[in-house]
Amino acid sequence: MSQHRGVARSLALYDRARGLIPGGTHLFGRRAELGAWGAMPIFAERHAGGRFWDVDGHEYVDLLMGAGAIILGHAYPPVVEAVQRQAALGTGLTINHPLEVELAELLTEVIPCAERVRFCKGGGEADAIAIRIARAATGRDKVAFCGYHGWHDWYIAANLADDTTLNAHLMPGIEPRGVPKGLTGTAIPFAYNNLDSLRAVLDANDGQIAAIIMEACRSFVPEPGFLEGVRELASARGIVLIFDEVVTGFRVALGGAQELYGVTPDLATYAKTLSNGFALGAVVGRREVMECAADSFISSVYWAEATGLAAGLASVRAMREVDAAGQVRRRGEAFMAALRQIIADSTVPAECFGLPPFPFVLFRHATPETNLELSTLYMQEMAQRGIFAIGVNYFCVDHTDADLDQVLTAARETFGVLAQALDSGDVKSFLECPVKQSGFRRLV
Ligand SMILES: Cc1ncc(COP(=O)(O)O)c(C=O)c1O
Repeated sequence: MSQHRGVARSLALYDRARGLIPGGTHLFGRRAELGAWGAMPIFAERHAGGRFWDVDGHEYVDLLMGAGAIILGHAYPPVVEAVQRQAALGTGLTINHPLEVELAELLTEVIPCAERVRFCKGGGEADAIAIRIARAATGRDKVAFCGYHGWHDWYIAANLADDTTLNAHLMPGIEPRGVPKGLTGTAIPFAYNNLDSLRAVLDANDGQIAAIIMEACRSFVPEPGFLEGVRELASARGIVLIFDEVVTGFRVALGGAQELYGVTPDLATYAKTLSNGFALGAVVGRREVMECAADSFISSVYWAEATGLAAGLASVRAMREVDAAGQVRRRGEAFMAALRQIIADSTVPAECFGLPPFPFVLFRHATPETNLELSTLYMQEMAQRGIFAIGVNYFCVDHTDADLDQVLTAARETFGVLAQALDSGDVKSFLECPVKQSGFRRLV
């Protein structure tokens, strides 16, 4: 049962935030309404290794790790030292910095498709740049996509013709407010692991598709031949194939999903793990395609500021040295095996699935509303036991065996509470907070 870790200071800060910051936060996923609002922390003031400390003074094992941005550990000393050193030497910006060249060289060593590199500051931005390059390279406008690729107009335009298009790729309820109607029909979805669905999109828009953008894997792994088939279709039709490696990059393998599955895209986008918590993104790819970035106006002052580059260089070197991808995979495998046992031993309809570097825990009750209640109760009970867990689990090099033990003990107890709640026939009565919200529309 609840350990009564109060979050009064978090709640007070969130109130102030909502009066100042539209939406209350700068990342949709950090909106308190999506969690156990009132029973888990909303603001944290210190992070180290695999843990953080919230503004109410409680310590948590962090299973979200900056939405997957942190793979080494919070405040990982070699990265922090590199940033501090660079900050003292100046961030640059007047003329170019040697770190741009050094990090670009390192990326071409570790990423299979990387012959040329451009830097930026985030994943959505990297995707927008890659789409611009693909459009410039092909002279075509339309984009076939699968999955989530940020907030920019080119992507949210998918919901202009039909505002349910992004339901299966991002979330239900997104109205494309502020996105020019002239982009209607320019972003067209296809289904993962379904070559026929991609072929149908390409046939219906013959000669008009500039890019296919997708994650090579996410919650599901590619079926044999799927990625190879996508590659063949793109090559045969002169389409730029872009792998969004914002989450998979350096995490499923040092060289990303393209290394793991042996399929090389024309372009790939990176952010998150690339710099382990400091702002940096990158677009990399084949020389002929990437060189189009020189002729299209793609330019910004802060993209190559030197602390982000220093963080990137230190992070990629460290990820290579300590085999970060191998470490998080092994930690995730142990977690998945144990969680599956906990689920099997309980009466709670749940599943632990996905790739070991970022497995998911989801509830599978026949009633959708009950799943939301179970998910809220899961977050509440895990938080009350000192574990920040929302369902997707990102591991880092700094997570220890003791952290995993604490997580699994909490999970076993939490599943006990969930089973009791289901038996009682009134899951809601076990909640100390409102049921979490889902989708976008209900929050705006
Ligand atoms: C696959 C993918 N692409 C792009 C993005 C957007 O990245 P950012 O939030 O850095 O703009 C995300 C963010 O979660 C992502 O998961």
